[in-house]
Amino acid sequence: MAGLMNCANLDAMKAYRAAILRFADNQAAVYEEDGLLVVAADAEGRQRVHAVGAWRELAPDYAHLSVEHLPGRILAPGFVDMHVHYPQLDVIGSPAEGLLPWLENYTFPQESRFLDALHAEEVAQFFIDELLRNGVTTALTFATSHPTSVNALFTEAAKRQVRLITGKCLMDRNAPDGVRDETEQSLIDTEALIRRWHGQGRLGYAITPRFAPSCSDAQMRGAGELAARYPDVWVQSHVAENREEIAWVSSLYPAARSYLAVYEQFGLLRPRSVYAHCIHFDDADRALMRRSGAAAAISPTSNLFLGSGFFDYEGADRIGYAYGLASDVGGGTSFSPFHTMLAAYYVGREGRSKPGLSLKPQQLWWQHTAGAAAALGLKGLVGNLAPGCEADFVVLNPAATPLLARKTAQAGSLDELLFAMIVLGDDRLIERTVVSQAQAALPTMVRINDSPT
Ligand code: GUN
Ligand code: ZN
Repeated sequence: MAGLMNCANLDAMKAYRAAILRFADNQAAVYEEDGLLVVAADAEGRQRVHAVGAWRELAPDYAHLSVEHLPGRILAPGFVDMHVHYPQLDVIGSPAEGLLPWLENYTFPQESRFLDALHAEEVAQFFIDELLRNGVTTALTFATSHPTSVNALFTEAAKRQVRLITGKCLMDRNAPDGVRDETEQSLIDTEALIRRWHGQGRLGYAITPRFAPSCSDAQMRGAGELAARYPDVWVQSHVAENREEIAWVSSLYPAARSYLAVYEQFGLLRPRSVYAHCIHFDDADRALMRRSGAAAAISPTSNLFLGSGFFDYEGADRIGYAYGLASDVGGGTSFSPFHTMLAAYYVGREGRSKPGLSLKPQQLWWQHTAGAAAALGLKGLVGNLAPGCEADFVVLNPAATPLLARKTAQAGSLDELLFAMIVLGDDRLIERTVVSQAQAALPTMVRINDSPT
């Protein structure tokens, strides 16, 4: 069992009795068949895990609490999606020969609609509903190049109290009218958005150069300067996703050692820098990721859908840099962490040179919870049910469908149980998503069409 001893607000305590899944520091899953999770408000009023462990050990200490008993259910950490595009909700399932035609024919036209605050607000609401329906309680997401899109999403996330990081896309070249921004104004808008939103409640800002081909040198340089001035703000971008894209980058930056090195030259590799895809890397790139403290957002359903390639888990583990899982909707095909974990299993197999080394269910689950949180620099805060973590969790019903019920009932080990849910699971498995609430004052709400400047 594990507990925090110094929490005083007994009135604000809640307890749940069910099976509980969480992770140890060595990444191994810890599973309690009959567990107790006690949630309490901290001094600021934020609900955190106060104690967790076996029910028979903890129950005497919490006899004064009324306990919500959830027989047959599993409590597990809320999932962490390291890379998703909220404005691409309506882009899911758009067929294209590959990344670049997909961007041009489907993605940019959809994103141009986010100049309209009402559209942005409607999609933001749907997006957060969809995250929660799928058990995702922390997300690092792209917005569009329009500040309106950022304001809409932050406003909605603050209302729902989800932990959400987003930023205005920087894209001042090689992009059509309607989504292309203007260099100087884009940097002014970025800084204004950082000051307005970063650190408000559970919200965080990410400086968001879309990818090297869409940003001029001046815009990349400005983004790097902001990244240095605001070290606890995130940076997010894309790298080494698609062979055509890589050839384009090397024609734009012929002197650069690699695509990743372009970001380094502009000061965009540092802790809290998150790069989606990282597929076509060599060992020098991997070493640069490790050295800089940047993290990879592995997006397997997207990589399979767009035919981009396979993330090399073996290479990443050999050199040792941070990574976690991501949906990458709308290149990705699903909001469901179960679909993403299953796709990661397929991708992980492809990357392994020796037989018998496929990713284990516990590793897959860790990559979408505690591992993703660590890669975002949020270890101990989200992605786990350790004492002190914010109380974000899902209630899983392993009998949610007839086939799940049949298969999970036969599981003879934790790995078999987790794998049955990874292979057969979707949003039906998520019976409830619980988001940590703060009883203190909420961040100031603003009208979504207010100008950030
Ligand atoms: N590279 C630049 N923009 C994008 C995007 O929106 N999706 C993906 N998958 N790759 C990108
Ligand atoms: Zn992406």
